[in-house]
Amino acid sequence: MLRGKKIIVGVTGSIAAYKAAVLVRSLVKEGAEVRVVMTPLGRQFITPLTMATLSKHPILVDFFNPENGEWNSHVALGEWADAFLIAPATANTLAKMATGVADNLLLTTYLSARCPVFVAPAMDLDMFAHVTTQQNLARLRTNGVRIIEPEEGELASGLSGKGRMAEPETIVEYLRVFFAKKKSLSGRKFLVTAGATIEAIDPVRFISNHSSGKMGYAVAAELVARGAEVVLLSGRTSLPVPGGVRLVETLSADAMCRAALAEWPAVDGAVMCAAVADYTPVECSPIKLKKDEGELCIPLKRTVDIAAELGRSKEGRILVGFALETDHEQEHAEQKLLRKNLDFIVLNSLRDAGACFGGDTNKITLIDRKGQTEFPLESKQRVAERIVDRIVELLQ
Ligand code: C5P
Repeated sequence: MLRGKKIIVGVTGSIAAYKAAVLVRSLVKEGAEVRVVMTPLGRQFITPLTMATLSKHPILVDFFNPENGEWNSHVALGEWADAFLIAPATANTLAKMATGVADNLLLTTYLSARCPVFVAPAMDLDMFAHVTTQQNLARLRTNGVRIIEPEEGELASGLSGKGRMAEPETIVEYLRVFFAKKKSLSGRKFLVTAGATIEAIDPVRFISNHSSGKMGYAVAAELVARGAEVVLLSGRTSLPVPGGVRLVETLSADAMCRAALAEWPAVDGAVMCAAVADYTPVECSPIKLKKDEGELCIPLKRTVDIAAELGRSKEGRILVGFALETDHEQEHAEQKLLRKNLDFIVLNSLRDAGACFGGDTNKITLIDRKGQTEFPLESKQRVAERIVDRIVELLQ
C-alpha cells in the first residue's frame, strides 16, 4: 500500500527521534519514497548521516545551504508529498504548528503542504496532559491534522504515563490503512446533495437558508478520493467544484428532487447533505412584486422530502441523511432516521460551538438503528472521512 508513496518524515527534538530511524527504514522497505526534514534540535538527537543513509537522500534542516546559497524549497517539498508525517512531534513543534509559527524548514513545509499531515506526539506525560498541549492538539485536529496518539508506558524522564511516541510499526500501519482507504470505493457510484435550495418568490427575491454547502462538497470530494464516481446535485453555494465530480446545478427543491429521482436507480447510495427548503411559494410571480402599505402574505406549499422519497425505493442502496437541530437533537434525529428510511443519520447541533453555518468545522454524532457514535469538533474534511468510513463499512 505504501509502494511509490512520497512521504516527508519530519523529525523534531525528542529522545524518541531514535525511533524515527526505524520508521524511515520501514517506510523505505514498504516501497515509499522518503525525504527527511529535521528541526535544528532534532538534528542533535539523531545524526543526519543515519537519516540520510536510511532515506537514501540528503536530509533537510536549513532554509538554504550556507556553503553555496542553494535554497531548500519547502514549497516544492510540500507539493511533492503524498503525506507529511511528523514523528516524533514535540509539544513545541505542535504549538508552533497550531499557531502558524514558521521559524524552521519543517514548519514552513507544514504550512506549504497540500497533502494529509500526520503527527505522532512524543513528550513527558504532564506535558502531554497539559491543557495548552491538548488545546493545540484540538486545534490541529480541527485543521485536519491526523493525530497518531501516543502510548502509555515508561518515559525518558523515568516517569510512566501517556506520552511515548507510537511504535514505528503502529505508525506505518496507520499510514497503510490511510492509503488503503483511498481505493476502497472504486467501481461505486454515489449521489450527493449539497448547499441551500432557493425558492423563487419573483424574478428578484427568493426564500433560502444559511447553508454554505461546505459539508456536502467535502463529502463529494472524499468519495472521489476513495475512487467513487460522484454526481453532486448542488443548490446555491459559492464553492469551487471538487475535481472529479459531475456537478448538476439544482437550485430549487423541485429541481433537486427531479434530478435525485433520475439519478437514484443508477447509484450505490446517496448522501443527502443539502439544506432543502421545506416550503416553496405556491406561485412565482412573473414580475417583481411591488411594495405596499401593510403586511405581505406569500402562500407557501410543502416541498417533496427528497431523502424520504429515495428511502421508499432503496433496494439495497445506502441512504445517509443529515439532521441539523437546535433542540431535542437526539430524539429528532432518531425520528428522521426511521421516517426517511435512512441507513444512518449525521446529527449536528447548532448549540455546539464550531458547528455553525459556513464554518470549516463540524461536530457530529452518527446515529443508526443499533446506536450512536459521537466525534469531537473536527474539520469538515475529517468529518467527511468519518461519514465515508461508515459507508465503506456498510458496503463490506
Ligand atoms: O427533515 P429535515 O429537513 O430536517 O431532514 C434533513 C435531511 O433530509 C437532510 O439529509 C436533507 O438533505 C434531507 N431533506 C431532503 N429533502 C427535503 C428536506 C430534507 O432530502 N425536502
